[in-house]
Amino acid sequence: MNGYSIKPSNGDLAVEAQGLVKVFGENRAVDGVDLQVKAGSIYGVLGPNGAGKTTTIRMLATLLKPDAGTGRIFGYDVEKDSQIVRQLIGVTGQYASVDESLSATENLVIFSRLLGLGRAESKRKAAELLEEFGLTEAAKRPLKNFSGGMRRRLDLAASLIAQPPLIFLDEPTTGLDPRTRAQMWETIRRLVKTGSTVLLTTQYLDEADQLADRIAVIDRGHVVAEGTVDELKASVGTSSLQLRVQQASDILEARRIVNHVLQVQSNVSSEAAKITAPMADADRVTDLLLALREAGIQLSEVSVQKPTLDEVFLTITGEGLKEEAAAQ
Ligand SMILES: Nc1ncnc2c1ncn2[C@@H]1O[C@H](COP(=O)(O)OP(=O)(O)OP(=O)(O)O)[C@@H](O)[C@H]1O
Ligand SMILES: [Mg+2]
Repeated sequence: MNGYSIKPSNGDLAVEAQGLVKVFGENRAVDGVDLQVKAGSIYGVLGPNGAGKTTTIRMLATLLKPDAGTGRIFGYDVEKDSQIVRQLIGVTGQYASVDESLSATENLVIFSRLLGLGRAESKRKAAELLEEFGLTEAAKRPLKNFSGGMRRRLDLAASLIAQPPLIFLDEPTTGLDPRTRAQMWETIRRLVKTGSTVLLTTQYLDEADQLADRIAVIDRGHVVAEGTVDELKASVGTSSLQLRVQQASDILEARRIVNHVLQVQSNVSSEAAKITAPMADADRVTDLLLALREAGIQLSEVSVQKPTLDEVFLTITGEGLKEEAAAQ
């Protein structure tokens, strides 16, 4: 696949993290994270802002020293074997800006030459990648004039030159327009089809739904859920019930009744006076509505939805990604 002479010593797991910890002052940003990523898969890491996703990736990519725990990449220790690990991984953000004053083409050519490709081959590769990423028109412009979306595309293009066995993509499509996002997804799938493993973080649940073979949800430095998309969806029940109470002051009592009648742990988002509960048995809704009426609690909204990753998120972390993002 490329010029790497190092043979992964652990063919099965591309990433294995055990009890990873990173403390910044008083803040346990990563507080005992365990991860296992099978070689040849796309692994998604989800979590609200500040959950510790980037910090975890930085430790696994040898860019930050863990305070405790171990990280292994294809069996190699991120601390003891960091030199080897660095040759097995790509991290976006690392390549594209060799020099801000040079053009996109020049940057890609330099990068190819650094990887040992010949002059003609480097030029051909650069032109080919710029074409694939719709950057041909901008190829001659200096990088410092590139938009955020163009930079990200160039960044991923650069990681295709070397195509390392493991690629970390930290929010690869944040801020991209829908067409470019779809293009990125195609590229990521292509990377995996041709032998790479991808670990990506994302704020977009649909992205994880579309791309990831398995997902870890990280919240406050912990992995709070792990599994395939279907497993995670199943874990919140076959459907989810959403209730909104008219009087915000009723919310706690309403929640108590929901938990009691449905025999579940529901979640409350207080500002919206909304309760979300997993619901395995649709029959119980009638009982619930009667119980709420008996208690004199008036509802402004009732709906039953099939689970989405959004619900999974809400149920697991007690807060939605979108609400979290909106609060920022
Ligand atoms: N270099 C640093 N020094 C001090 N605190 C840091 C540093 N890097 C991250 N943090 C803190 O660690 C916590 C986790 O940050 P991290 O960037 O890993 O979160 P994240 O899950 O990637 O969030 P986002 O979705 O916003 O990218 C945050 O509270 C952040 O403020
Ligand atoms: Mg981050």
